[in-house]
Amino acid sequence: MGRVGRRVFSILLAIAPAAAPAQSESLPHLARSGNRHALIVDGAPFLMLGVQANNSSNYPAMLPKVWPTVRQLHANTLEIPVAWEQIEPVEGRFDFSWVDLLLSEARANNVRLVPLWFGTWKNTNPQYTPEWVKRDTKRFPREIKPDGSTYWVMSAHGRSTLEADKHAFAALMSHIRKVDPQHTIIMVQVENETGSYGIPRDFSPEAQRLFAQSIPAELARRVGKSGTWSQAFGPTADQAFNAWHIARYVDEIVAAGKAELGLPMYVNASLTDPFTLDGVEHGASGGPNWNVIDIWKVGAPHVDVEAPDIYTAEYPKYAKYIEHYRRTDNPLFIPETGNDSGFARFFWLALGNGTIGWSPFGMDATGYFNHPLGAKELDAATLGAFERKFALIAPIARDWARLAYEHPTAGFAKPEDASDQSAVLGRWRITAKYGFWQFGLEEWAKSRTSPNKELPVGGAALIKIGPDEFLVAGSDIRLRFALDKPAAGENSQFLAVEEGTFINGEWQMARRWNGDQVDYGLNLASPTLLKVRLGTYR
Ligand code: DGJ
Repeated sequence: MGRVGRRVFSILLAIAPAAAPAQSESLPHLARSGNRHALIVDGAPFLMLGVQANNSSNYPAMLPKVWPTVRQLHANTLEIPVAWEQIEPVEGRFDFSWVDLLLSEARANNVRLVPLWFGTWKNTNPQYTPEWVKRDTKRFPREIKPDGSTYWVMSAHGRSTLEADKHAFAALMSHIRKVDPQHTIIMVQVENETGSYGIPRDFSPEAQRLFAQSIPAELARRVGKSGTWSQAFGPTADQAFNAWHIARYVDEIVAAGKAELGLPMYVNASLTDPFTLDGVEHGASGGPNWNVIDIWKVGAPHVDVEAPDIYTAEYPKYAKYIEHYRRTDNPLFIPETGNDSGFARFFWLALGNGTIGWSPFGMDATGYFNHPLGAKELDAATLGAFERKFALIAPIARDWARLAYEHPTAGFAKPEDASDQSAVLGRWRITAKYGFWQFGLEEWAKSRTSPNKELPVGGAALIKIGPDEFLVAGSDIRLRFALDKPAAGENSQFLAVEEGTFINGEWQMARRWNGDQVDYGLNLASPTLLKVRLGTYR
């Protein structure tokens, strides 16, 4: 918008009737305060306790096998595919009956939705494009391998593929605008794990021509590099080039969708090892992997969130992915994580890192299990590991989201060696300890013989709601609080430890913890919510 246009626009805003801005305020959106983020739904922060259905659960006959799991897990949001092949089986003829059914059943189940737009790329491949797209490789070109043969993956340089995908996605968003005035749909995923496995990018003549050029000026400014792709990015040039072109491609689709309905939109990443650049081109090269977030930020300014799909249950890697994606310019959102019980403890870590949502994948009763990425089966123990945590937080998800948006937070999850962890919030150092019985000092040999010591369980999330006050949620963990830098002779103590919950936004105490319940630290066995007030004495 030019200067004159901007002025006219702000005058218009100033004189617009109250109803006009209220409409866009009620639209789900992302908000930022310093380095904290919130997903605003119905005008207030919303914590997404998500589950993602299996890939082929996007048909009406499957929904009876989806909702019981959603309900059992106390999820407040279902992520589920809406495939291009499904809504546009014949070019130009749209069928939104799946979306309509999803909306009405989600409302009946009191659950919000995140549709997953499976279009040009799904785990990089074009399997979800309509048959008329799959068949026509002239109009919808695939990548070309270095030897000149055709590769499976769609080229990011296929203008007509982009136009067709964009057209379908815009039609979907336009339909949602008409049928979802209450915003049951709160966010939209665009494409799924984009990139290219096997070869790092398209090697067609057009791609080769672009690859030989200088990197775009806006990218050069952002990453502080210049020259051709090879000069600027060296060994990761192919990946950087593909990331740029896929980001530009996806951005156009997102922008067209938002022009119909401006919901928050995100992209999800298939991840490579978070500690090394070795092998990044052998992952989903070009997708929003942790090392190319900046390229995506410049190339896809309409995308609100780059989000990691985390399928490692190793603590150091999980924590590192969170570190990569939790940024001032990027809300932390984990749209997929493993559904084996060992992943459940990372809910606490994500929560304590201010995530706007966390969603285990493959949570339905259709009988498919993505082991070894996820669980072998969803037996009672596996589901229970997730269910008990969501059950604690679901009734207070709005309170948690609001407080976590307003105050500093910290999170823990048990590392493989069960060693202590600590975090400093204000003047307090909180230490997390694992594998202890609820009773007994650390120095008592028998106090650390709990069978939990060997299990991948345990974690906690904390919000510092006042100078000396914390909201604490966690399970299978012992927490100790102490002054981080005590003055000489200054000691710390609990003033009050209250177990309770929020009712209508107000804290309701069920009981005070004292005696055995505080003498050995705060031992949270099953998921527990506490409000802790600390003090000092000399
Ligand atoms: C990540 C993808 O995004 C999901 O759609 C699914 O394919 C899982 N991997 C594996 O089950």
